[in-house]
Amino acid sequence: MSFDPSSRSRLSSHDLHRFAQDSLFCRVARVLCEANCVPRKELYEAWEVARRARRRFRGGRVVDLACGHGLVAQLMLLLDDKSPSALAVDSKLPPSASRVNECLSQAWPRLRGRVQLVEAELESIALDAEDVIVSCHACGSLTDQVLGRALLVRAKVAVLPCCQATGKSDLGGLAGWLDPALAIDVTRAAKLRAAGYWVHTQTIPAEITPKNRLLLAGP
Ligand SMILES: C[S@@+](CC[C@H](N)C(=O)[O-])C[C@H]1O[C@@H](n2cnc3c(N)ncnc32)[C@H](O)[C@@H]1O
Repeated sequence: MSFDPSSRSRLSSHDLHRFAQDSLFCRVARVLCEANCVPRKELYEAWEVARRARRRFRGGRVVDLACGHGLVAQLMLLLDDKSPSALAVDSKLPPSASRVNECLSQAWPRLRGRVQLVEAELESIALDAEDVIVSCHACGSLTDQVLGRALLVRAKVAVLPCCQATGKSDLGGLAGWLDPALAIDVTRAAKLRAAGYWVHTQTIPAEITPKNRLLLAGP
């Protein structure tokens, strides 16, 4: 049977043999298998977002908004040690978020003390122009809030939107031509351009998630 990267099954010690290589991805995956609390899909999504974001955004404090386990934040630090710290924010952190941080910090002691997990509404977080803001699957209009916060301080931003909400997000008048979810994402990109940002669009592999449009932008 093939190993489905979109599965929501929890990674566990039964999966260790699937990650036998000596790559950073496999080493992280093995730690998460031992942690026994992270859905498989979350690992693959976070990895694809973090490595693409890191190709364009080096250094800076990483701010992972609507972070879940805060995996993107921690992968961003592992992929580029020039970032001093990461702030991972969620209005309801999963109980296992601190366990994930502890397991990763045991495997990579340089992470210890550099990742702050904060339970808060993302609107309440103070941001800075030097920050690198990331958000993986901030549902519906939450992605608009993330982009709005980034724009306010002129910070770099990477989002992987999902659950686009036609009632709440701007379709930019494009719904006559484009699928509504695509119209919303295209309008988001256009707004960033209109605000003087460069915009780069990519997709992560659809076999991980069909909500796979990655929007990267910076001032
Ligand atoms: C679909 S999950 C994504 C979690 C994680 N980024 C991932 O990719 O697995 C969306 C997250 O947004 C969080 N959330 C919802 N509203 C929020 C808000 N106003 N501020 C911060 N986090 C919020 C939820 O608690 C949830 O963990």
